[in-house]
This record gives sequence, structure tokens and C-alpha cells, in this order.
Amino acid sequence: MPEHIAMIMDGNGRWAQRQGLPRTAGHRAGAENISRVVDICMKHGVKSLTVYAFSTENWKRPVDEVSALMALIPEFCSGRLQDMMKNGVRLRTIGRTSDLPLAARTVLLNTIEKTKNNDKFTLNIALSYGGRAEIVDAVNKMLKDGIKEINEETFRDYLYAGDIPDPAIIIRTGGEMRLSNFLMWESAYSEIYVTDTWWPDFSEEDLVKAFKWFETRDRRFGGIKA
Ligand code: IPE
Ligand code: IPE
Ligand code: MG
Repeated sequence: MPEHIAMIMDGNGRWAQRQGLPRTAGHRAGAENISRVVDICMKHGVKSLTVYAFSTENWKRPVDEVSALMALIPEFCSGRLQDMMKNGVRLRTIGRTSDLPLAARTVLLNTIEKTKNNDKFTLNIALSYGGRAEIVDAVNKMLKDGIKEINEETFRDYLYAGDIPDPAIIIRTGGEMRLSNFLMWESAYSEIYVTDTWWPDFSEEDLVKAFKWFETRDRRFGGIKA
């Protein structure tokens, strides 16, 4: 079982529109699905999950949709805290979280602090995250630290979550065959699995299908078949 998996949670809007609901209803259903998927990942022995919740480009969306998404952050944190404590789930974030509204930032910091010693599972939420932004932020930090020369290992330390191993598999729901600026550095050798299922409908059955597919992959990392 891969130690770290990542998911591009796409298709919330289409899921809602399909039922004649506003897009924001899809985001709410999508947020609810995160906890279900965490439970399923834990059950299958995965140690950490990174989910793409909001990209640096998603700020371009209508202000009402952005506000609705931002409002889901404190709701998610306070609604899930008890379960995270009970199940040993540690919350982390990656991205330019300083761009988030104060209410979201405060509750995130609080939840991260409260859950920091939980060691069964890490839920890493990508918020105001962009793969290019991550690389630029890393380089700026290095310049500030006066670093003159780097290698791949030292560069990694400057990423948002340099201590988490690269995701073995990136699952994208909603059918699009692209990374949309997700984990550009970390995805170098990730297996990419795309399903047409919309994120709010993504279930244990879908995840097991993805794992079965992953098992059939021959991960050569540039070498030759063993
Ligand atoms: C993914 O669902 C959630 C975010 C990007 C915030 P979308 O909102 O992109 O849903 P679709 O792709 O329009 O269906
Ligand atoms: C990717 O979905 C970002 C998230 C799931 C948070 P988008 O819906 O923003 O991506 P594009 O626009 O289809 O590439
Ligand atoms: Mg989308």
C-alpha cells in the first residue's frame, strides 16, 4: 500500500449542477466526503493523504463561490476535530495559507496545533496551493537564507511539506487528464489515476479500484524492468 497518496478533488460543481443545485452545494458535499475518504485510507493502511481543495488559480472564481469555499474551512475544522483526535489524525496544510481569510486561518492554525501529536494518519490539505507558487516560495526562502547552491535533497527541504514522501499515486476525480498545477515537484514519478466519478460521489469502491490498478503498475523510476 502506498504510504502517501494525493487527490485532486474535482467535479463538485458538475455534481451539483447535475441535480439542479447551486455549485456551492457540491462544495459542501465534497467537504463532507473528505472525512469519509480519510477513514477509508486509514482502513487500507495508507499513512498520509494530500487533498487539493483550493488552487492559486481558484481565486479567479466568482466572489460568492470563493466565500462559500472559505466558509467551509472553519466548518470542516470544528466539525471534524473530535473525530481527528479520536482517530489519531494530524491536520496539516500546504499552500499560501496567508492569503486565506482570517477566520479560516485562525481555526486552521488552532486545529493544526491541537492535532500535531496525532500519529496514525496525516491529512494534508492544499489551500491556495499552486505547484509553481510552491517552487517560487521555496526559492525565495532559500535566497533569504543566503543559500548559494542547492541539490535535489536540499531543495526538497524548502517545499511546504518536505518531510512527507512523494505521493505514489495521484487520483483525479471528474475526468480531466491534467494536474492543474498540483504537486509539480513531488509528482515527478507519481502514478496518475483519473476517474470520471465526481468528487462528492468518490467512494471506497472507487478507491479500491485505484489501488488495484496501482498494484499492476511497473514503477521503473527510469530503470529497467526487474
Ligand atoms: C473542485 O470542484 C473543487 C474546487 C476546485 C474548489 P469544481 O468546483 O472545480 O467542480 P467542477 O470541475 O466545476 O465540476
Ligand atoms: C483543480 O480543479 C483544483 C482543485 C481541485 C482544488 P480545477 O477545477 O480548478 O481545475 P481545472 O480548471 O479544471 O484545470
Ligand atoms: Mg473543476
